[in-house]
Amino acid sequence: MSSAKTSTRVDVGPVSDFGPGRPHAVRAAGRDLVVVRKGDEFFAIRDACPHQGAKLSGGALCGQVEACVRGEQPVLSRDAEFLTCPWHGWKMDLRTGRSALEPETVRVKSYPVHVEAGRLLVEMG
Ligand code: FES
Repeated sequence: MSSAKTSTRVDVGPVSDFGPGRPHAVRAAGRDLVVVRKGDEFFAIRDACPHQGAKLSGGALCGQVEACVRGEQPVLSRDAEFLTCPWHGWKMDLRTGRSALEPETVRVKSYPVHVEAGRLLVEMG
């Protein structure tokens, strides 16, 4: 006998409420989440740092500096796809919820986000 996992899409508001370039704190299904918009993409992760529980929604968006060839400028990639914790600076990947420094061991839950009829829906497991 198999059991099917069900998920629920929770409406967190109109898409127009989620401007790009900053984190948005929302509450969905009894959980605090942080939603970030990058262009037409949306990311949602738990709004609690895995270090000591700070609200990640109070942090700053940043990108990643890629290694470069000697003599050339470093390249900034994935701009605004990481959130830096406001307390001690841990950097979390918004696409995966994983720590940029220790992705295999440190993470917060991430949630798929959908847009339907101008509303933002977060898929809760
Ligand atoms: S609570 Fe987030 S880095 Fe310490």
